[in-house]
Amino acid sequence: MKRNSEKLFLEHSLFQTYYRKLLAASDLEQIAQYPQHGSTSRLLHCVAVAYYSYRFALFTRLTFHLEELVRGALLHDYFFYDAQDGDPAHKGHWSRHPAIALENAGQKLALTRIEEDIIAKHMFPLTGRPPRYRESVLVSLADKACSVYEFFRRRSPYQKLRQMMGSEQLSAGGRPAL
Ligand SMILES: [Fe+2]
Ligand SMILES: [Fe+2]
Repeated sequence: MKRNSEKLFLEHSLFQTYYRKLLAASDLEQIAQYPQHGSTSRLLHCVAVAYYSYRFALFTRLTFHLEELVRGALLHDYFFYDAQDGDPAHKGHWSRHPAIALENAGQKLALTRIEEDIIAKHMFPLTGRPPRYRESVLVSLADKACSVYEFFRRRSPYQKLRQMMGSEQLSAGGRPAL
């Protein structure tokens, strides 16, 4: 039992290390000001997709490039506009935003091929070409599961995850404030 909780603590710590490293190297926290689904901010959505992809990867005991998995998932919706604001410029957003996120991320960070694939293909099958790596498949599935959860869970989504992360940007759980 003690070994299990130690293992979980180390796994959480490693995830937080990846997250904080990426925050320090980018302006990822800026996406907290945009809503994603329901009362979930885009930052909280990306953290949730990254965290559950990471947990599932560990659960499978298959070999995953964990830091690339987490970074790609955190960056998969790295764009700076409200997709639901009715602006005609955002027409076709659902199929176009992976390319926008990839371009934004590429301007700030040196991305690996796995990270690029995760971002570019996360909306598959809406975006044509299928994911190439197991990391990309996992993020694409986690993204869809999280989106459904966020759509139905309007009040205080991801409570445990927000507590675990202890991050100010993730603590309020709603529109622009978080
Ligand atoms: Fe997306
Ligand atoms: Fe997403």
